[in-house]
Amino acid sequence: MELVTRAIKGTKDVLPSESYKNQYIESTAMGVADCFGYGEIRTPVFEHTELFNRSVGDTTDVVQKEMYTFDDKGGRSITLRPEGTAGAVRSFLENGLFNEPLPQKMSYLTSCYRYEKPQSGRYREFHQFGVECIGAADAAADAEIISLAVQVFDMLGVENLSLEINSIGCPECRKKYTAALREYFEGHKGELCETCLSRLERNPMRILDCKSPVCSEISAGAPVVLDYICDDCRAHFESLKGFLEALEIDYTVNPQIVRGLDYYTRTVFEIISNNKDTQGLVCCGGGRYDGLVGELGGPSLPACGFGMGLERVRLIMETADVPFPEKTRTDLFLASMGEKANVLAAKIVSDLRFDGVRADFELCGRSVKAQMKFAGKTGAHYTAVIGDGEIESGEIVLKNMDDSSTQTVPLEGFQEEFSNILIQGVLSDMNQANAEDFDIKL
Ligand code: HAM
Repeated sequence: MELVTRAIKGTKDVLPSESYKNQYIESTAMGVADCFGYGEIRTPVFEHTELFNRSVGDTTDVVQKEMYTFDDKGGRSITLRPEGTAGAVRSFLENGLFNEPLPQKMSYLTSCYRYEKPQSGRYREFHQFGVECIGAADAAADAEIISLAVQVFDMLGVENLSLEINSIGCPECRKKYTAALREYFEGHKGELCETCLSRLERNPMRILDCKSPVCSEISAGAPVVLDYICDDCRAHFESLKGFLEALEIDYTVNPQIVRGLDYYTRTVFEIISNNKDTQGLVCCGGGRYDGLVGELGGPSLPACGFGMGLERVRLIMETADVPFPEKTRTDLFLASMGEKANVLAAKIVSDLRFDGVRADFELCGRSVKAQMKFAGKTGAHYTAVIGDGEIESGEIVLKNMDDSSTQTVPLEGFQEEFSNILIQGVLSDMNQANAEDFDIKL
């Protein structure tokens, strides 16, 4: 086929045959967020570029190399959001949510855009589930968001993950640390890439996220921020550890984690896969950002949050054979033959759909044989055929496609009768499952 164009590199279509997996992950995550009191926020896909320059930081890889930025027809610089926090905080400020009881706890499902090199688990359009908790300074809030992320993975049945935490201190500790880093990297000035040379002047901490092999190797020997944090930041970190231990959440301290976005202060964390096929994949990252709300022109309010990469969560689940719930099936395909029957089938199916039954009928005018073939291919649970004969006799034969059993059902009141059959089927499946759970013979 000679297509006019194809999907953009680094983007991924989710087809109807598989989107139930995404829906399952998303609804599980949002359900957990709801239990934790995080209400959904939806913000625009694009924002003024300045928002990301100021929040994510203009020396980060995200801003310098990865943003989809363009001028709109009015000549304004616009950027597709590379992450969810900046927009959520902008909206929090613009809508005066700081006047509401604090903390304000928000959750979101968003698409994000970064011009990165596509590879397994890394896309140019990807989706995040995220939460932001604004107005809480206590380490209990850091622990709450971590526990929320852990619970999402738990509910999904994802195992073999490790939680790594670190503290990158406050702007005060950062001054001492920045000086130490500058001194260290000055000694390697001749080997650093062009971008890192400019970072050396403006923000040496960002050299630590450089993906060039030479810079990464040099970074491995750099001083670590945890050795430079002040007493208050250390106390906050110890308090977080205490909460995590009380919540029975396993963690390791990884002093190398600094995260690639400028707004973080104190706590940073990542959740990483240890499964064979997705070893080292970071599926969730976040931390505290006590300066950002003020930096964007609002009151000085502490905050923390995380973003979870939904494509990565699905990849981890699929490669580790974590079960998804079964895809829903059509309950009934009502085949028909003849003009009168076609119209009657449309009406019966429409009534059933109003009752919440997944019912379907023929839209292409095919033969009954072809309709039944279609019903079989699409996995319909029951089928029935309606024609002049059935209209005359007032009965139709319902076939269970799983065990090929049939039963005759009156056309009059078919809708209620079929709903009853479905309920009986669900009850019998539940009894079967319960019997298996308790090892009872039915
Ligand atoms: P981030 O670490 O840049 O943090 O992204 C969060 C998560 O999004 C990552 O851990 C990863 O799972 C996923 N992710 C990032 N880039 C890609 C990509 N190119 N393809 C697929 N998945 C990706 C943030 O975005 C922060 N806003 C998190 C946060 C919220 N911090 C505080 N609040």
